[in-house]
Amino acid sequence: MTLPTPPVPRRTGLVVAVDLEDRRAGEAVARAVSPHADAVKVGWPTVLACGTDVVGQLARASGRPVICDFKIADIPPVAGAIARRAVDAGARGVICHAFAGRESVAAVADACHARGALAIAVVEMSHEGGREFTAPASDRLLEAALSGGATAVVAPATRPERIAAIHAAHPGLLIFSPGAGAQGGSPREAARAGADFVIVGRAIVNAADPAAAAQDAAGQIAEGARA
Ligand code: C5P
Repeated sequence: MTLPTPPVPRRTGLVVAVDLEDRRAGEAVARAVSPHADAVKVGWPTVLACGTDVVGQLARASGRPVICDFKIADIPPVAGAIARRAVDAGARGVICHAFAGRESVAAVADACHARGALAIAVVEMSHEGGREFTAPASDRLLEAALSGGATAVVAPATRPERIAAIHAAHPGLLIFSPGAGAQGGSPREAARAGADFVIVGRAIVNAADPAAAAQDAAGQIAEGARA
């Protein structure tokens, strides 16, 4: 599905995962990385610690869209309700798990698309444990994501060959790739493989100079995308 206005316009291809539990620290990082980032991503630790208002606060601090990484994996009515709440809080994209099945993805996609946000489904996890369940099933997870109407998928920067396979099979599909930096993947290789957006967390957030680290990651993404 193509939304009329891209909720997360692509400029640098960098998404910074601000997994901090202190609002002011999160705002400071969001502000610092904003010239180099297309979006800020938050997950449960941040929202549970700071409340849902943190979504709007980080959007204001960064001037960038915020993606809520709630990895929703529940029955369709609950999955849809979580997505609706996230978008109502200001999220321009919501991440769900494809393994909950097509109907759950569809409930998230409906809630997001009705409000002009991206529905992003995880088809393969980036960490080592992703090899246990999601990697062997990733083709079927991709099918569930697509048939459920997800606008984008999450595929691992730690296994760029998987990004390349998805990109080759579905050239127009938006791909978000976490796992660059602290988990060992490279922003350059993820972008070269076809990731539209590379998600980087700790390598930027915990750097002595987050703005410089974000600039470096954005530079690598630009090189990879050109290659
Ligand atoms: O700190 P690091 O760069 O490893 O952070 C990666 C971010 O991407 C985290 O916020 C994590 O929740 C998220 N993520 C991931 N693997 C997935 C989906 C999301 O690492 N498959």
